[in-house]
Amino acid sequence: MSEKNTLTIIDNRTGKQYEIPIQNGAIRAIDLRQIKLSQDDFGLLSYDPGFENTASCKSSITFIDGEKGILRYRGYPIEELAQKSTYLEVAYLLIYGEMPSKAQLQEWIRNITLHTMVHENIKKFMDGFHHDAHPMGMLVGTLGALSTFYPDAKDIFDMQSRTKQIYRLLGKMPTMAALAYRHSLGMPYIYPDNDLSYTENFLNMLFKPSPSTKYDPDPVLSKALDVLFILHADHEQNCSTNAMRSVGSSYADPYSCAAAAAAALYGPLHGGANEAVVRMLKEIGSVDRISEYLEQVHAHKKLLYGFGHRIYKNYDPRARIIKELAYKVFEVTGKNPLLDIALELERIALSDEYFLSRKLYPNVDFYSGLIYQAMGFPASMFTVLFSVARMAGWLAQWQEEILDKEQGIARPRQIYIGPATRSLQ
Ligand code: CMC
Repeated sequence: MSEKNTLTIIDNRTGKQYEIPIQNGAIRAIDLRQIKLSQDDFGLLSYDPGFENTASCKSSITFIDGEKGILRYRGYPIEELAQKSTYLEVAYLLIYGEMPSKAQLQEWIRNITLHTMVHENIKKFMDGFHHDAHPMGMLVGTLGALSTFYPDAKDIFDMQSRTKQIYRLLGKMPTMAALAYRHSLGMPYIYPDNDLSYTENFLNMLFKPSPSTKYDPDPVLSKALDVLFILHADHEQNCSTNAMRSVGSSYADPYSCAAAAAAALYGPLHGGANEAVVRMLKEIGSVDRISEYLEQVHAHKKLLYGFGHRIYKNYDPRARIIKELAYKVFEVTGKNPLLDIALELERIALSDEYFLSRKLYPNVDFYSGLIYQAMGFPASMFTVLFSVARMAGWLAQWQEEILDKEQGIARPRQIYIGPATRSLQ
């Protein structure tokens, strides 16, 4: 192997040769610009719809090896974090780069807990939504509305201000998610209870029958939710994180950025897939109708939701943990009747040429919806739960971007294929 860390390009149109540096296994796209047909030529662009092979940033937060099915946050394997840590510890790790000490963790939890309440006008704002509004739509709108409550959030280069918005967003996400849920049921809102853990408090705000009734969140379910939150906390430059960073690159406040990120997560190809999985399993209805559904997938008429991933070309490590977790949850809630269909679907798909040749394996969403459903969540809440968890990652990525001197406003180029100059007449 040569010592030279460069790429030599010969432009066959002109016969000219260029030498471009390679750093961290990448070339800088801007280095292609010098490749021109003539002096007034704009220069070569790289065309990459869907950013399949374009790194938009350098990041030290999350590492994924999609071929091997590896996921690590700040170097720690996801399996270890899911087993030995809590969501709030992981949120700290993602945002600050290290696991918190005992004192740091206490302070962190205290500060987040102190920010779980929302302004009464946020409640009124949510009251304005129609009774059957999708909770994800409510969450996206309310996240955006939060920016009007905290004008100090515009001070994004002030570390103290950023820290405060981080507390607020992590603290208020479960509260807003629960408000959206209760609103859709027409049930009275439940205020946060600062004596409970993050996920216990969330379950309490969601499922407490009324403000005057006592409700004890099941410890197995609150632990399971905590693990699910860890698994969903970050996933490097996915569609919603890219939205967070893209809006963040214009120096918008973090609430506006998070609203954009949540909107991106809403789609069925991204965080909306867990909802789509449950709808698909219901549509299939019974194990003997799986082959009929798969025939439609083979014919490209349907997708097998919960399968496939842009990065993982192997079993998604999160799906493996979730599958195990499902059994623990079902011990408390009773088995989800859709589980048998899911298991059989997975078994068949994993030996089916269509899926094998395309390296399509179960992803994080294949089993998570079954757990959420068994816990009593309607399908429309699944992506909301994903958003609550992903807030840690969005904030970590946003802060990394703000501190990254190499970042500029996200503004891709295009290849114009429309009409040349013409005139009206
Ligand atoms: N069911 C059936 N066919 C599929 C699926 C699927 N779930 N996923 C990909 N394919 C096919 C696709 O039709 C294409 O076939 P062909 O080469 O014959 O045209 C081939 O596999 C490559 O697919 P692609 O769409 O080019 O792959 P991508 O990397 O652009 O898309 C994906 C990744 C996640 C959007 C896609 O796999 C998908 O739509 N999956 C279903 C939705 C889903 O489960 N999303 C959750 C992703 S994990 C959580 C998250 O990130 O939010």
